[in-house]
Amino acid sequence: MEKKFLIGITGASGVVYAYYLLKELKKLKYPAEVIITRAGEMVWNYELEKPVEEILKFAEKLYREDEISAPPASGSNEYFGMVIIPCTMGTLSAIACGSARNLLQRSADVMLKERKPLILVIRETPFNLIHIRNMKTCSEAGAIIFPAMPSFYHKPKNLEELISQFVRRILQFLGLSPEGLKTWQEVELE
Ligand SMILES: Cc1cc2nc3c(=O)[nH]c(=O)nc-3n(C[C@H](O)[C@H](O)[C@H](O)COP(=O)(O)O)c2cc1C
Repeated sequence: MEKKFLIGITGASGVVYAYYLLKELKKLKYPAEVIITRAGEMVWNYELEKPVEEILKFAEKLYREDEISAPPASGSNEYFGMVIIPCTMGTLSAIACGSARNLLQRSADVMLKERKPLILVIRETPFNLIHIRNMKTCSEAGAIIFPAMPSFYHKPKNLEELISQFVRRILQFLGLSPEGLKTWQEVELE
């Protein structure tokens, strides 16, 4: 079966990471569906200055957080896995305690119960002890904590190169082969 990805966008700074991840998935011809929270939509408008409907250039569907009966809410869904990018401390906390108060949180809960990949691209600094404990809980439950910490060893010349390398690492982690990912071995040989 073709891998279909679920992408969650919450109201943390760095929604541009989601934009690039969706672009890369489209380039690789993998289908994606997106859930955006109310805060995610606010930060998207503020940081990207684009309408959220632009997401539909790269994704098959765009769900809002209150669509709690949408397909991602059920364990019978066909998604290969979910990436929440960026992931707020609020959503991290909801996942850690299993509260599932909106479609995005419920979908993450479903990924964990179905033992499917769940990647949390958390973004906050510094962390308090509650954040750290929630990361530990989610990690123990099977989520991958993949902090929004881009690398510099490939010497990015601009923001696009920095962000692209970071989102390609996520795709590599999910078993895809994104074009343009620079491994350390390749950088060393340059
Ligand atoms: C411009 C802006 C940037 C924000 N950045 C962060 C952030 O980086 N990390 C975070 O945890 N919350 C951040 N917040 C706060 C969240 O948006 C807020 O806690 C919200 O309730 C999270 O809801 P959600 O998890 O449902 O998207 C930010 C809010 C705004 C307005």
